[in-house]
Amino acid sequence: MTITFIGHGYVGLVTACVFADFGNKVWIIGHTEEKLKRLKSGDPIIYEPGLKELLEKNLQTKRIHITKDYDTAVAESDIVFIAVGTPPKKSGEADLTSVFEVAEKISKHLKDGTTVVSCKSTVPVGTNKKVEAILQKNKKSKAEILTASCPEFLREGTAIYDTLNPDRVVVGSDSKKAIDILLELHKPINGKRVITNLASAELIKYASNAMLATKISFANFVSFYCEETGADVEKVLDAVGLDNRIGRVFLYPGVGYGGSCLPKDVKALIDSGKTLGVDTSLLQEVEDINETARKNFLQKLFENFKGKKIAVWGLSFKPNTDDIRFAPSLYILQAFLDKNLQVSVYDPVAIENVKKLFKNQLTYAKDPYEVLKEADALCILTEWNEFKQIDLKKVKGLLKNPLVFDGRNMYDPKKMAKLGFSYFGIGRNL
Ligand code: UGA
Repeated sequence: MTITFIGHGYVGLVTACVFADFGNKVWIIGHTEEKLKRLKSGDPIIYEPGLKELLEKNLQTKRIHITKDYDTAVAESDIVFIAVGTPPKKSGEADLTSVFEVAEKISKHLKDGTTVVSCKSTVPVGTNKKVEAILQKNKKSKAEILTASCPEFLREGTAIYDTLNPDRVVVGSDSKKAIDILLELHKPINGKRVITNLASAELIKYASNAMLATKISFANFVSFYCEETGADVEKVLDAVGLDNRIGRVFLYPGVGYGGSCLPKDVKALIDSGKTLGVDTSLLQEVEDINETARKNFLQKLFENFKGKKIAVWGLSFKPNTDDIRFAPSLYILQAFLDKNLQVSVYDPVAIENVKKLFKNQLTYAKDPYEVLKEADALCILTEWNEFKQIDLKKVKGLLKNPLVFDGRNMYDPKKMAKLGFSYFGIGRNL
């Protein structure tokens, strides 16, 4: 098949590379000249394990084509995926400006015959219908346009694996023909098939992300209880998670969820719920608890930290990505600066992105030991693998005070005490 992806962020680029790797001809459309140049040279722009290799391979075999122009790409495509950003507006509402702009452009270049057009971007219920209206308005007489919703469930950091091995492939459309075309495209991909209508497919994506956020906020809520009672959150949630109906996945407390998806999608669902007259207080609480998680962490830290300089490990919103959008670290770093602390930071890949925001307000270290020099405490915000079995004796030797605030519960409190650290995790007790 020939497929066009409009947008080359995590969803667009990863999915484009995977489908190209299956032998399809894939067009990627972007609008920034400099970014397109980088993509053409095999640089994926974003950091995602395995993506550079996959992009380079499919550029070499000429299965991926990168362009600014809609004419040839859209005109020869069987399927066009819209994968542009839908950032939150101040109100929380998803900003669909790019989606509709792109739909206008697509509509002018559709071929005679059948084209499936589907939003891969996360969009509120009803958006694909609006896209369809734009397409129908401008279409040529012999063009058959079929709209569908084919949401994506990949996670940053494991995006290629997730695309190849999703738990489910959701295809929503009111057209049987569109469903058949999309099922054919997804044939080499594992996972259960869920066939449904447009609105349900759109909501499945939001409901999934809202459920994940709810689990995380629930874990944080349990951790608040543990801090007040002497219970150990890891033991409690291990046992709770052993119930098959509940499970342990996404039940890890910490400094809260961040990233470009969960915060944005929870907000968008709250916003659209209000418009629809649906009670969204559950999700409002999920959001509030997420904020409380950061605030509690900081409160504990400021109560127990009397020094001048603090070292930070981990800046990305989660491991294996350089993405810092809505990362808890941004909020926490700002709180340190507001208290006039000297802050030195280390992250394996997100340093450059943080530098662009905080410039010379922070000191940037090249490794997890260098950052500790002269620091009165260590604060951990992302659970990168390289911290898991780090030489903790060396860490203690480098810190001015053996004080660790761990926002991701990476270490065993008993072991840390034995090593001579004053160790503060989330909801943990000896
Ligand atoms: C999320 C979903 O997991 C994907 O299924 C979805 O496709 C994607 O959004 C999207 O909508 O595009 P992602 O944003 O990459 O993926 O990150 P997650 O792995 O969901 O983590 C989000 C945040 O929750 C991170 O800050 C992470 O540290 C935090 N988290 C996760 C916890 O605090 N506790 C947990 O138990 C799990």
